[in-house]
Amino acid sequence: MERILVIGALGQVGRELLEQLSNKFGVENVIAADIKQADDISNRQEILDVLDAEALRNLVKRESITQVYNLAALLSATAEKNIKFAWKLSIEGLFNVLDMAKDGLINKIFWPSSIAVFGPTTPKDSTPQHTIIEPNTVYGIGKQAGEQWCNYYHQKFGVDVRSIRYPGLIGHKSLPGGGTTDYAVDIFYEALKNSSYNCFLSSAATLPMMYMEDAIRATIDIMEAPSENIKVRTSYNIAGFSFSPAELAEKIKNHIPNFTITYNPDFRDQIAATWPSSINDEAAKKDWGWQPKYTLDDLVEVMITEIRKKI
Ligand code: SER
Repeated sequence: MERILVIGALGQVGRELLEQLSNKFGVENVIAADIKQADDISNRQEILDVLDAEALRNLVKRESITQVYNLAALLSATAEKNIKFAWKLSIEGLFNVLDMAKDGLINKIFWPSSIAVFGPTTPKDSTPQHTIIEPNTVYGIGKQAGEQWCNYYHQKFGVDVRSIRYPGLIGHKSLPGGGTTDYAVDIFYEALKNSSYNCFLSSAATLPMMYMEDAIRATIDIMEAPSENIKVRTSYNIAGFSFSPAELAEKIKNHIPNFTITYNPDFRDQIAATWPSSINDEAAKKDWGWQPKYTLDDLVEVMITEIRKKI
């Protein structure tokens, strides 16, 4: 029987992952750890700082945890403003989890990487699985180092750690915070509330994106795949679709004809400029059967329908 701990459970990915893991393994077998508590989730909650290795180990032993999903991080924009802490959270947090697997306390780890691992010298279109990785953001540097540590712990100590390079994630159940791709969620709320949006990226900033449901399915699928199928132990590229703010605005106009967008690019536009426009995910498709389901049109439709119900 699997007993699962999700760290950073109240973030954008964590909340949706909790829901799907609970459906699969039973709500009583999925524990939500975060530095805060929420009153709208049904899983057992633990206040936990991933940097507190002793508290983490105690919790894992007490609850007989078998798998850990470690999602605790500062996203790209926030990390630029808090360099040392972002690095510490990213790398020490990862070490605390990797070491528990090395010491035989847990069997399996999920740790997310990101398109932010790529940088200005990476080929931008259909970015390959194995390519130039020279990130120039704090968040990207943490992801690059983390990927190498995952691979190292797998090679040297046989740790079963699995990872995906998430594109920008867009969903209606939870809100992102502090990321460069957050505009692609915010825009729907503003379009429905005010019929207008002031975008912090430039109109042509094309980035790889994905509907949250696909990302969560990918996460659970990679964790469920037989270990021998996971041939990449840094992190797998996965792709949904790509669009620029201008292209997304056009799609939204099909639903909200009087929608208008203005552009006021800030430092996040410079981050976006260093990331790929599109991703090659052949390795994930071949090794563990990854396949996206949602197109951009599906995404726009579901976001507008679901957010309209909320506001
Ligand atoms: N969505 C993330 C960000 O913008 C990228 O992984 O920071």
